[in-house]
Amino acid sequence: MCGIIAYTGSRQAAPILLAGLRDLEYRGYDSAGVALLPEAGSEPAVAKRRGKIAELDGAIGEHALPAAHTGIGHTRWATHGSPSDANAHPHTGCGSDVVIVHNGIVENYAALRAELAGRGHAFDSETDTETIAHLLEERLDAGSDLLAAMREACARLTGSHAIVALSPREPGIVVGARIGNAGGVVVGYGKGEMLLSSDLAALLPHTREVAFLADRQLVRISGDRVDYAGLDGSAADVVPRTLSLDPASADKGAYDTYMRKEIMEQPAALADTIGGLMTVEPPRLSLDDLGEARPWLERVERVLLVGMGTSLHAAMVGRWYFEQIARLPADIDNASEFRYREPVLGPETLVVSVSQSGETVDVLEAMNVARASGAPQITICNTPGSQTTRVADGTVHTYAGLERGVASTKTFTTSIAALFALALETARVRGRISEDDLARHVRDLAAMPEIVGRQLESFDAIAAAAERFRTTDHILFLGRGPALPIALEGALKMKELSYVHAEGYAAGEMKHGPIALIDSGFPTVALAGQHALRSKIVSNIEQIRARDGEVLAVVTEGDDELIALANESLTVPSVPALLEPLAAIVPLQVLAYATAEARGCNIDQPRNLAKTVTVE
Ligand code: F6R
Repeated sequence: MCGIIAYTGSRQAAPILLAGLRDLEYRGYDSAGVALLPEAGSEPAVAKRRGKIAELDGAIGEHALPAAHTGIGHTRWATHGSPSDANAHPHTGCGSDVVIVHNGIVENYAALRAELAGRGHAFDSETDTETIAHLLEERLDAGSDLLAAMREACARLTGSHAIVALSPREPGIVVGARIGNAGGVVVGYGKGEMLLSSDLAALLPHTREVAFLADRQLVRISGDRVDYAGLDGSAADVVPRTLSLDPASADKGAYDTYMRKEIMEQPAALADTIGGLMTVEPPRLSLDDLGEARPWLERVERVLLVGMGTSLHAAMVGRWYFEQIARLPADIDNASEFRYREPVLGPETLVVSVSQSGETVDVLEAMNVARASGAPQITICNTPGSQTTRVADGTVHTYAGLERGVASTKTFTTSIAALFALALETARVRGRISEDDLARHVRDLAAMPEIVGRQLESFDAIAAAAERFRTTDHILFLGRGPALPIALEGALKMKELSYVHAEGYAAGEMKHGPIALIDSGFPTVALAGQHALRSKIVSNIEQIRARDGEVLAVVTEGDDELIALANESLTVPSVPALLEPLAAIVPLQVLAYATAEARGCNIDQPRNLAKTVTVE
């Protein structure tokens, strides 16, 4: 979950590392640090501080860093050891012969630490990471070069890791390793310089030519050279790719927060995604990266969608699409549950994973389980080249651009659009949809960016409705049918941003327990679109009102019956029922945003969270 950045080349490393850490702060923000390697022979200079990057900037102001052309940096999300200066990365061994940053958990760290202590190693921190620095130090002392030392140290570790190291013994060199699914290591190719990072966000200001380390791969970079190797010592041939991502999408632009910018970017992100997957005239789907998964669309008997958090909610919408459009049995599963359940599946099941980052550990492990079972796989992903796209047989890309707010917004709506396109393609190849219906669905989806854009013109009016939640402790979000995932997502956005306890519930469950919560102090947000189950939601609202409960209803424009019934309402435009999730989520994103703002919460960096979850 931590962010990693490394630089070696002709420029001064410190400003590049610090800017990189600011770009990576969404990965973790409890401490940060850098290590710089001045010219040959001198010791690395390490500066690290508990707290956000601003604290580190302050610390560096006090003790100016030396000039150096090589360095590494890290922003941490604590796993072993509390956030403190000592536990912040980078870490060294006993001396300063090696400095490392790390993402992952050394599962055998207690045994390693005892073993190393028995050989005289003294530890400065409570972290599991420091054991890796001591292991590397021993291997360097034994005569290995840094790349070999990394390979040898990795062989001693259990768990998943991304590790980056430098050593004054090898000036101008940085070595990286990836084992398992603790997060990516991306290599950035510059002119006379090379970079490593956990994320594209920190590389894009410098280069768009990148390569992703595969599982069990190592890399050694210098200003003008890159070498790849396998953990087994074999040489590896890795070809970089040039991304079309725009570095400008990494800026906040005119907005106060990334999240507001990303909410407002949804019309463009949807238009780019839809444009990348289909044409309207003539109506034609162009899912060009389905690769080896394509023939399976015709053969499989069921679909299983997996994801976590917001992406799981998108998957839940996708289940509707596969059932309603392709008439294919479809299930969803939380990837972290699926991976441990010994699920029964094989080549008859198409596994569709949804992940904006393509690096979420539970999703990757679920995909490994699916692969071992022989199930064909497609991933819906916003990060080209990421690990889910490498594991899956085919990819449906979303084109939302970088998402930097910790709470996902534009990648939720674009994942839904991609799932809609995939369900249409599945229906088409299985002969389950007429040309006319296909054309109608394509037209309907293509109209959504403009509709969402019009909704967002009322951002401030929607935000005003959040005033009632400024002092509330609990909110219930109710939905049914395609609105259930939106109720769950609305509740997730509310709790993660504003820290208000919010529960998303299937409205049909109300009378089976949750209605006991309702009184005049327990508000409900009820999603009442115009899908077939609208009348059922009307009954729920009546039952809540009869118990003095307060209801904010999200209703279709012109639905006067519901507007009169609820205490307050937010309207969404009338769109085809299957596409209602795309319209209905917009006011809920804005409500959560405005509630968090009114409560003085840090919107882009909610407490305890990190954007990409790469440890269990
Ligand atoms: C919530 C949020 C998370 C992510 C989840 C999966 O706003 O962003 O719930 O959706 O961590 O991440 P990805 O999509 O990268 O697999």
